[in-house]
Amino acid sequence: DSAESINTDIVTLSRYILEKQRYSAKHATGEFSLLLNSLQFAFKFISQTIRRAELVNLMGLSGASNATGDQQKKLDVLGDEIFINAMKTSGNVKVLVSEEQEDLLVFRNNSGSYAICCDPIDGSSNLDAGVSVGTIVSLFRLLPDSSGSIKDVLRSGREMVAACYAMYGASTHVMLTTGDGVDGFTLDTNLGEFILTYPNLHMPLECPIYSINEGNTLYWEQHIQDFVNGLKEPQQFLNGKPYSSRYIGSMVADVHRTLLYGGLFSYPCDRKNKHGKLRLLYEAFPMAFLVEQAGGKAVNDKGERILDLTPEHIHDKSSIWLGSAYEIDRYLQHIGKQQ
Ligand code: AHG
Ligand code: MN
Ligand code: MN
Ligand code: MN
Repeated sequence: DSAESINTDIVTLSRYILEKQRYSAKHATGEFSLLLNSLQFAFKFISQTIRRAELVNLMGLSGASNATGDQQKKLDVLGDEIFINAMKTSGNVKVLVSEEQEDLLVFRNNSGSYAICCDPIDGSSNLDAGVSVGTIVSLFRLLPDSSGSIKDVLRSGREMVAACYAMYGASTHVMLTTGDGVDGFTLDTNLGEFILTYPNLHMPLECPIYSINEGNTLYWEQHIQDFVNGLKEPQQFLNGKPYSSRYIGSMVADVHRTLLYGGLFSYPCDRKNKHGKLRLLYEAFPMAFLVEQAGGKAVNDKGERILDLTPEHIHDKSSIWLGSAYEIDRYLQHIGKQQ
């Protein structure tokens, strides 16, 4: 009967955070827990704002552009403000990098020991069509003796201590890693809590889906065209069927699908985007960390591991190939980086 089918012992993100704090020596300070709490508040606030946007006239462009040349939507600006305010007032963040802020922000009055990088609204070109968008976050601890500077974020991806994203889709999801696997949560809008729905998520080791903006074929190097064409040929392991194509145009949604179903997602360099389009600190790094922690791989066009890269500037970009181990190995093989 229904009384039996209701789980009365659900794990909320708040409970998960407290239990992690209690049982893991690594983040036992409590500071990390407070920070995650402010993060989940920002995700709920942005989620709610996006869902109301059409009814309160928040659609469309703001009229400005950001540091990487994107036109800003009204919601890009609002999401940025919500995120910054939540992090500033959490007291645990000293340094903040945002896609929508040309320079890094240093909160001098905060005593916190974290540096955070964010893409407040990822996929914002999709906003006015009601397609899934998200917020992407990477987290570093300040360097020893640092009082907050650009050096705290111009570091190798290996030094990230946590990464997560929220995806505002049919439901709002949060996928989180602190370096020991990936856990996923779904927002229960009635409770106002994220509920643990994907504990210890492992992505499929292979899946015949590729996700890339093929409209850019004209601008790709020949070897990328050859690789993608190869996916459209009959595959032996699929009884002669080719790969399927899925491309949403919100990295967060394309990566979320890749985490759950497997396959490969890529944004390579091309003649228009000589260094790729996606930005290291708040797109490539956090997604690479999550994908690796779920058992997948993430490399750039040259086959270098994304997490081994170090940005020189806060808005630096990178090419990216991420997804199931089999599909990424296939790319590595194509470029001669693996036999
Ligand atoms: P953002 O909306 O944060 O600027 O990010 C846009 C990114 C990413 O979400 C997506 O994967 C990619 O741009 C799509 O680019 P194209 O429209 O060139 O395919
Ligand atoms: Mn943008
Ligand atoms: Mn983005
Ligand atoms: Mn964005």
